[in-house]
Amino acid sequence: RPVFYLTVMCPLYMCGLADCPADGRMWVPFNDRCYHFVHGEEDAIKSYTLERAKTFCQGFELLTIQSAEENDFVMKYSPQVWKGNVNVWLGMFFDTNSEDMRWPGNEPVEYINWEYSSSPSDLVPVDTCVALHTVSGRWENVSCLDEVENGVVCETAQKPNAVLSALVILSVVAIMGISAVIWFLQQKHNVGSSFLSAFEYHPPFRVLDNDQSCLVETEETDSVP
Ligand SMILES: *[C@@H]1O[C@H](CO)[C@@H](O)[C@H](O)[C@H]1NC(C)=O
Repeated sequence: RPVFYLTVMCPLYMCGLADCPADGRMWVPFNDRCYHFVHGEEDAIKSYTLERAKTFCQGFELLTIQSAEENDFVMKYSPQVWKGNVNVWLGMFFDTNSEDMRWPGNEPVEYINWEYSSSPSDLVPVDTCVALHTVSGRWENVSCLDEVENGVVCETAQKPNAVLSALVILSVVAIMGISAVIWFLQQKHNVGSSFLSAFEYHPPFRVLDNDQSCLVETEETDSVP
């Protein structure tokens, strides 16, 4: 995410310079991210193992929730595509290297929104996955292998779009064009100044030559008598 905030003037998605994927599915933009709620014809079975959910989101990630604002967005958007409560797979997984729960992209889990009635789970860490209940917005620990959920949301970052690419290409062409003009003018100026020096310096020498020859002539005439 931070890469989007490195833009000089504003985050690309705010300038309208970033897009959601154009893969024929409906992606909902929210802040600098895009969300695909698996619904309609795509959602015929309404029963997804983690593996199946990941297949739906191939090339993207499962839902990642990193703020209350993002959690609210999912809760509020959900009734537009699904009826009633839906349990959605989250992308959170147990990372064996850091030995804690992580989001895709190995991002640490900072914001959490567990159910109130959290009993110590009997799941082994590597088999711990998380599902979000769209009505309450609360999260539950579930088995990655045995559990089946009825909702899938895929998520990805917005990508710089065609307008931005065109602007980048145009600026490169413009910079090259301006450089060429500056180079050309410089060349012309150099040639011009050598012409100028030819005109500026030669005539005085010629005048001087004439004067000297005149002087010599007069001297000669003077010395003759
Ligand atoms: C889920 O597991 C984590 C530890 O991995 C624990 O902190 C949290 O309270 C559990 N949540 C629920 C709702 O059981």
